[in-house]
Amino acid sequence: MHVQIGEAASNTERYAKAVATSKRIRFDIDRDVIRGRSFDFTKKFLPDGLSKVDQLDFLTGDEKRLLSQIQGRTYANMFGLVERFIAAKVLEVTGEHQLGDQNALEALVRFADEEIKHQELFRRVERMCAPGMPDGYIFVPEPNAVASAVLSKSTWAVLALICHIELFVLAHYRESVKADPNSSELWNDVFLHHWREESQHAIIDELEWQRVDARLSPDERDRGVSELIELVGAVDGLVQLQARADADYFVRVCGRSLSPAEAERVRAGVLSAYRWQYIVSGVQEPRFVKILGDMITEGQSDRIGKALVPVMH
Ligand SMILES: [Fe+2]
Ligand SMILES: [Fe+2]
Repeated sequence: MHVQIGEAASNTERYAKAVATSKRIRFDIDRDVIRGRSFDFTKKFLPDGLSKVDQLDFLTGDEKRLLSQIQGRTYANMFGLVERFIAAKVLEVTGEHQLGDQNALEALVRFADEEIKHQELFRRVERMCAPGMPDGYIFVPEPNAVASAVLSKSTWAVLALICHIELFVLAHYRESVKADPNSSELWNDVFLHHWREESQHAIIDELEWQRVDARLSPDERDRGVSELIELVGAVDGLVQLQARADADYFVRVCGRSLSPAEAERVRAGVLSAYRWQYIVSGVQEPRFVKILGDMITEGQSDRIGKALVPVMH
């Protein structure tokens, strides 16, 4: 009982701290991020640490830059996509705090509001990318269809996926975007501001996921693990479709005719980069490994590990 009261007190402090930080760093899309600027198409968008274009050694510098811009456009669209189901799930769990911890309630209301704003930000990014790139780019997945499929799973599994996504967002910024001086300045600013608000989301994800986990029976959690495996499989399906669409678009618009073997290397390179970006970098993130590892059994951990084998290699 004492432990529970102590835990509740420290959790409410963590929610309160997330609220305070969220108020301090809150950004406005036009005033703070875009500031009347446009993307610099003479520079890369997605840094090499994420796009892995440096591994395609037969491409020229200009071609690598184009492929990084295509991947960057998809990166923004992918966030616009996942934030549709993230906002919906956050709004749903917010209801559980309505008459409870008011710090948690405020933290979650702000979280959902920020995700709705981020979707608008990424729609703006798409609209600003389109005129600077050749016609024919396609973003395949449809946000509401993906959201309906994801939200049909249990809250435990959906919160696990969301926590994974928001932790890899932080890792990408820390390790790649921030460290790359060669990318478009506006591009880096979009992800700087996004990263700042996402830092609170990752804390709240952990608290909410643990809160939901604490009320599950072992059988319910085991079903949650199966659903998480299904969700990661579904993400991989989307990643495969979009990687193929982006690689084929690049091959069509890169300005020269690549040999069949080179085109195949572009397809394999983009798929491997997207699996790294949207799955592997998240499941290897130490904070994610720790939170999940504290909830599940060794057998469940093995099941997840086996399911990930085709994606990791
Ligand atoms: Fe976001
Ligand atoms: Fe977020």
